[in-house]
Amino acid sequence: MGSWRVSVILALSTCLFYGFIPLAGAAEETDVKPRVPSNKMELAKGMANPGSLDKGFIAAGKEIFSGKGRCVMCHGETGKGDSPMAAAFNPKPRDFTNLQWQKVRTDGEIFWAISEGTEYGMIPFGGSLSEKERWQLVNYIREIGRLSNPTLAKEQNN
Ligand code: HEC
Repeated sequence: MGSWRVSVILALSTCLFYGFIPLAGAAEETDVKPRVPSNKMELAKGMANPGSLDKGFIAAGKEIFSGKGRCVMCHGETGKGDSPMAAAFNPKPRDFTNLQWQKVRTDGEIFWAISEGTEYGMIPFGGSLSEKERWQLVNYIREIGRLSNPTLAKEQNN
């Protein structure tokens, strides 16, 4: 391949990555890129979820999501990332009903993002919510995924 072609491809993929070209579906691709720094990934993926499918965890997570965590402010009432404030962010606050995102993220990575934030605008809650509260949120976010994607519910409940 000629080097000019390589440059064009590189330039195009950079634009796509940063969202300069609003192609349908491009935003979702950006959303699924890992958020945990690569040197912390093993640690994040190895974290055990203490409340997977636990109804108490899910209910408590829901409460924090719209209550003291104020997650709704950005992620919206239904977790679709469609709050009035969402428009101010690029990338947008994550849409937790997105099947592709739910499938690609491990529980530990979600816990990590809630605790440490991300370099693209998610704010860290490690200092303001307890470890248990953050796991409750992880499990509520998983529940949002299952409720909006019946196939996911089937896979996870089996
Ligand atoms: C001030 C706005 C704001 C608030 C409040 C907020 N978020 Fe976010 N959140 C964002 C944005 C913006 C992103 C997208 C950042 C990115 O793409 O890395 C995000 C992304 C995420 C992600 C996805 C990370 C990933 O790995 O893809 C999770 C999980 C998350 N937020 C959970 C929460 C929870 C739980 C709360 C409440 C405790 C919360 N957020 C509160 C703005 C917010």
